[in-house]
Formats: sequence, structure tokens, C-alpha cells
Amino acid sequence: MKLWGGRFKNKLDEKAFIFNESFSFDKILYEVDIIGSIAHVKMLSKQKIIDKKSSNNILKGLTQILNDIKQNKISLNEKNYEDIHSFIESKLLKIIGNDAKKLHTARSRNDQIALDLKLYSRIKINETKKNLLLLLDSINNIIKTNKKTILPGFTHLQKAQPVTLSHHFGAYKEMFNRDILRLESTLKRLNECPLGACALNGTTYNIDRNFTSKELGFDRPTKNSMDSVSDRDYVIEYVFNLSLIMMHLSRLSEEIIIWNSDDYKYITLSDKFSTGSSIMPQKKNPDIAELIRGKTGTIYGALMSVLSTMKSLPLTYNKDLQELNQIYFSSIKNANESIFIMSEMLKEIIFNKNIMEKSSYKGFINATDVADYLVKKGVPFRDAHHMVGELVLLCEEKNLTLDELSLNDYNKICKNYVKKDIYENINLRTCVNNRKCIGATGENKKL
Ligand code: ARG
Repeated sequence: MKLWGGRFKNKLDEKAFIFNESFSFDKILYEVDIIGSIAHVKMLSKQKIIDKKSSNNILKGLTQILNDIKQNKISLNEKNYEDIHSFIESKLLKIIGNDAKKLHTARSRNDQIALDLKLYSRIKINETKKNLLLLLDSINNIIKTNKKTILPGFTHLQKAQPVTLSHHFGAYKEMFNRDILRLESTLKRLNECPLGACALNGTTYNIDRNFTSKELGFDRPTKNSMDSVSDRDYVIEYVFNLSLIMMHLSRLSEEIIIWNSDDYKYITLSDKFSTGSSIMPQKKNPDIAELIRGKTGTIYGALMSVLSTMKSLPLTYNKDLQELNQIYFSSIKNANESIFIMSEMLKEIIFNKNIMEKSSYKGFINATDVADYLVKKGVPFRDAHHMVGELVLLCEEKNLTLDELSLNDYNKICKNYVKKDIYENINLRTCVNNRKCIGATGENKKL
């Protein structure tokens, strides 16, 4: 069934129909579309815009359609529908007859799609949040069980100073916590109901927008009908939030990929989250982490796409808006799956603690602590920094670590400032323990 046609003499060209349709991707909105229609019909009847009998009929029909779709009695794979709205309305007509024709009173597909998208976004944002909480559970578990695991902290991907593995994962905890706050803030802003804006400027019927808004769990109706049908800020915000989440996941993936490589071996990925090569029998590849990293690019692309589509649209509804949806739905799916699979993969990672700690002894990662030792013995920091630079050169010549250098060698450069207690002071555990300031790796910890 077409929702329009009275003013047309000719049928739409077949190719143009296919080009114009959105049912193939907006069918995903079937449930929220029906829920929106149910609230709308209840309001129409309460306001006596349509009679009680018709409204009851419509409500029964809509509920049946919802159940039938869920039980696969109505297939969403049918062709020849323009969009989800016309699909539901034609099914309703088939089931309850002429009363179905009253459903669209005081409504336009413009406010209907805006409502559907907001209801859908709300559900999906909560799903993203739930997945992030699962991910945080996996991260918290690593944090709890690795308070004493030492590994090198890196800057420029060069060993810098020692940290605990808990501290390293604590950084990701911060990122994903911020992501949750951002989602909550988007949710708050989008939670105004656009239903009743109709095509663009409201309606002559005596509708009750407060009623539908409340019925659908919104905080209030939107304030301006023209904005209501053309606003897609929440789509952009959500895709931006997803881009940031993906960026965080991608950084974590990158570390997993590096740490899993043969030269690092800091971790061993579970067979459950690795795949093999068709030619090289020895390979066990971190494909899942790589795919998450790859999907980050796809979602950044979606962000540019939704921003660009919106950029020169005049008020109010323009068909360009339909073009956002497909890419929007696939970004949500990709991101939600990525978060979930990362949370599962983290549960199975084995941390090779000995290798991590051994690796911390190379790369002079306690050099700053030698300088700090000298400062505490009275050497100005800049001089201490210079002396330790020379010590590192000496170590390199002698192929020793700073822990292995003799007191004699130390004092050739450090003018007798170095005593026996140096070794205890630059021990890796001391290096971590001594960093006690707020936010530091040794805060509240004794290794
Ligand atoms: N399929 C359309 C969309 O997703 C529904 C709204 C159509 N409105 C219109 N005036 N043609 O945006």
C-alpha cells in the first residue's frame, strides 16, 4: 500500500521506487514504529479525535502485527514497500480493514521517523552502556588481580618507567567511564518527544503532546515543530560517542596486538579469539583485535558521512535525512559488537607476568629514580639528570643495567653521592611504590 498517490497520474518508475525505498533497512525500526503508533492512537482516542471503537481496533491490530513479526508470522523480507511506516499501515489495513485509515490522523511520516529514531537510539544507547559495563567488569577483574604485576610503562613506544598492570588497565577504565558519561549526556538531550510536530508546523487537531511524550517515556515534548522534524543532532552525537569508544577500543586492540607479538610475548591470546593462516601453519593471529581496530575506521567514516549529509539541509524535512539511517544502524551494530567481543576477549587473555617483569629490567626504566636518588642526596635535578645520562652511557659500554653497576663506577660520575642504599632505591618495586601521589602507579599500593 502506498501512503500517497491521489495527485499522481502516473506510477513511480520501477527503478526510482527501488532507489527511493528505505524498507530494506528501516524495517529494523518495526517495534519502535508500532510502539509510537500505539501511543499516538491512545492520544487520538483520549482527545476524541477518533472514536473509541476504531482506536480499540487499531490497538488490537498493531499489537497483533508486533507479535506476528516477532513470531515470524509476518515476514520483514517482503519487497515492494516504501518504508517501515507504509509496511505497518498496510498490514494494519489487511488485518482490521478501514479503521486502519484513521491511524495517521494528526501525524506525518516526518514526525514519525523522528520519533522512531529517537526511541531506537534510546534503546541502543542503553545497550552500548550495558556493553561498556560488561567491558569494565573485565577490566576491573584485570585490575584487581594484577596489583603486583610490573611491566614497563612506555612513552614514544620506548620503555620509560615501570608501572603495574593494574595501573595500565586503570587508564582504560577512565576512558570507558568517560564514554558512559557521554552517552548519558546524549540520552538526556535527546529525550524530548517530537511526535505531534507533524509535517513541519504542528496540526490543527486538538492533540495532547504531553500525553504521548509521557506515554513514551520522554521528559517533555520538543519545543519547536520545525526543529523536531529536522533535528538529527542525537544521531551525530551518538555516532561521535561511538567513534570515541571505538578509538579507545582501537588503542587497546593495538596494545593487545603488540603485546601478543613474538618479540613482546607479554600476553597470550586465547585460541577462542585468534585465527590461523591458510599457508603458514605456525601462525596464530590476533584477528579479532585487528578487526576492532579496522571497524574504528568504518565508524569514523560514518561520522563524517552523517555530518556531511546534514551540513546544508534547509529546514525542515528533506529526503537526505533517510540516507543517514542505514549508516547509522550499521555503526551502532558494529560498535556494540566490538565492545562486547572485546569484553569477552579480555576475560581469556593470559598475562605472561614473568616476561613483563623481565622486560622491565631492560631499557634503564629506573634512570629517573637514580636521578631522584641523587636529588635527595643534595644534587640539583639538572645536574643529576646529566650524571645519570653519563651512567647510562657507561652501562651501555659495559653491557650492564643500572642495578648491576658497581658503587665504584657510580661514583666515578656521581662524585661520591652514591651510597649502598642506591640499589634498594632503584629496585623496580621501590620505583613503583614510591610513586604515591594522586593518580600515580604506586598510590595506595605496597608491592
Ligand atoms: N522513509 C522516510 C525517512 O526515513 C520517512 C519519512 C518520509 N517523509 C516524507 N515526507 N517523504 O526519512
